[in-house]
Amino acid sequence: MNKIKIRNVLLEDLECVTQIEATCFPAAEAAPRNVFKERISVFPEGFFVAELNNEIIGFINGGVTNETHIEDEFFITMDLHIPNGENIVIFGLDVHPKYQRKGYAKELMKHFIEAAKKDGRKKILLTCKEHLIKYYEQFGYVNEGVSESTHGGTKWYDMYLELK
Ligand SMILES: CC(C)(COP(=O)(O)OP(=O)(O)OC[C@H]1O[C@@H](n2cnc3c(N)ncnc32)[C@H](O)[C@@H]1OP(=O)(O)O)[C@@H](O)C(=O)NCCC(=O)NCCS
Repeated sequence: MNKIKIRNVLLEDLECVTQIEATCFPAAEAAPRNVFKERISVFPEGFFVAELNNEIIGFINGGVTNETHIEDEFFITMDLHIPNGENIVIFGLDVHPKYQRKGYAKELMKHFIEAAKKDGRKKILLTCKEHLIKYYEQFGYVNEGVSESTHGGTKWYDMYLELK
């Protein structure tokens, strides 16, 4: 596996992350450019990109809340972001299809978990499709079953990772 560099996002990464998202998710689920622009502007501390040979190949991004489940509205607006909140939500974990199955998402997730611990968060929350439940369980995430989320018209599962 080639070594990747993980760093905080910059506004100049906007086009690149928007394109990777559109490649990784169906149109109804993919966050559009304006949503990424807001996430990058409001909370770059919770948005990490992975670079391979100076090219962005994936990213993970989130927002902070005092809720214990993700509200669908949070996927489209950072108005719900509470900088000093207890829990951090993962909006998305993406690795460009060309670079998948090399452990890069795992590295991004580990980085995100360490940052959330350092920031004193209690839990990390995410929603995922059924086929990825096992994948997230390897990091210690607990599956809470089918989510109330109807984001993109898909069936999601609520998962959380207890940090303290
Ligand atoms: C889900 C996603 C982020 C995973 O990215 P990835 O970089 O391929 O993830 P990893 O490499 O860490 O792990 C993926 C699989 O590759 C395997 N793998 C890791 N390194 C490997 C290697 N060197 N050789 C072969 N397989 C490997 C892992 O064991 C894992 O297998 P599993 O699913 O059977 O557990 C990526 O597929 C993606 O962007 N999908 C579309 C968007 C999406 O659904 N995101 C999640 C939203 S909830």
